[in-house]
Amino acid sequence: MGAGAWTVAREDWGSRSDYRRAMVSDPSPPLPRSGATGGLYRRFVEPLLRTDEGADAEQLSRISLAILGETALRRDWPVVRDALQGLALELQRRDPRLQQTLFGCRFANPVGLAAGFDKNGVAAALWDRFGFGFAELGTVTWEAQPGNPRPRLFRLAAERAALNRMGFNNDGARAVRRILERQKLPPAGQRPAVLGLNLGKSRLTSLQLAPDDYASSLELLAPLADYAVVNVSSPNTPGLRELQEESQLRRLVERLRRLPACPPLLVKIAPDLEDDAIDAIARLAYEEGLAGVIAVNTSQDRLGLGQRRLAATGRLLEEEAGGLSGRPLRQRALEVLRRLRATAGPALPLVGVGGIDGPQAAWERITAGASLVQIYTGWIYEGPILVPEILEGLVQQLERHGLATLAEAVGSGLPWRSAP
Ligand SMILES: Cc1cc2nc3c(=O)[nH]c(=O)nc-3n(C[C@H](O)[C@H](O)[C@H](O)COP(=O)(O)O)c2cc1C
Repeated sequence: MGAGAWTVAREDWGSRSDYRRAMVSDPSPPLPRSGATGGLYRRFVEPLLRTDEGADAEQLSRISLAILGETALRRDWPVVRDALQGLALELQRRDPRLQQTLFGCRFANPVGLAAGFDKNGVAAALWDRFGFGFAELGTVTWEAQPGNPRPRLFRLAAERAALNRMGFNNDGARAVRRILERQKLPPAGQRPAVLGLNLGKSRLTSLQLAPDDYASSLELLAPLADYAVVNVSSPNTPGLRELQEESQLRRLVERLRRLPACPPLLVKIAPDLEDDAIDAIARLAYEEGLAGVIAVNTSQDRLGLGQRRLAATGRLLEEEAGGLSGRPLRQRALEVLRRLRATAGPALPLVGVGGIDGPQAAWERITAGASLVQIYTGWIYEGPILVPEILEGLVQQLERHGLATLAEAVGSGLPWRSAP
């Protein structure tokens, strides 16, 4: 097992200033999908994901998170520490060419876990072991809330997609703070994986009072976050998306920036916005000095799948509420990102998310202007091995294009180059 020369010993991340660059000593070719985690996933999990019916998608992720949460709290136990080290050896790819510093945060690599998987941050201490350069926890709301009735998460296996209408189920900001504190994380800025906190509006709070609701959560959680995200784009909280409208968003952002300690602030937008609205957000981000924009959340559009029937309910997708994610979202997510880049220019960091399920999709997003990418649905279908596969693919593209760093590829428009 292990990733050979790709992985170097864990660095001392004692502080931002004494951070030492990892060295790749031997550029031997990437290993095939042979590690323990990859093998176990392929053997036991992938078969459950091949059909829409069968294992309940939400139940599967609840079980995984319960195990990860217990592991995070016991990560100093020798047997747990060894297992996590094995995981890191298999999945981490350290390469100085992939490092970037954006909005004051040092990212070891550009691949992050998208919001919605670890809603309560139970595995915050572990995401670097899965190879991620960053993880976005949440969405967290001020009030604890159960979310929508089940079933509310559906696989669309043939399309490598999912439909969800979870509705911001989470334990609430106060509980999330306790959950994070119990893990005794290194201080913000000194973590092997950057941690973002994605914040949403409590369902019962009116739009008028939304800025105070977000501000309460941010004030409590800011000390634990490297960056924060204003989520105004989930399709499953009534009215939430209206906060993307320029004057509402400005009021919200200005309220948060008045907090005594506001971490770098990003906004996450929907894929279903008109071009004018995307342009307005890009301009607002610039004017308000936002740290970046994350594009995109799940789609209310059915992306050509309207006539597809959901096995669990027997109804057409166009009749079902919820947001679509995964492969069918890839093209639209790319278009939104391109539009943002065209309006905002290179100064505004962009995070690309939606339908990324391999190195080519990640490269496409980066060369279109994303400094960072996030994965969710693709990670579930492909398994943990997707992270090193993307990272290896990105390094390969840098080499094929003769680029020294990933930052040079951002917004370059360079095509994907297959093996010569
Ligand atoms: C089950 C599920 C729950 C999600 N929950 C959230 C959430 O709480 N907050 C959020 O900002 N995005 C949430 N998302 C959206 C993802 O972060 C991501 O933007 C979207 O799924 C597109 O990426 P993907 O195609 O790689 O999944 C969720 C997605 C899924 C599939």
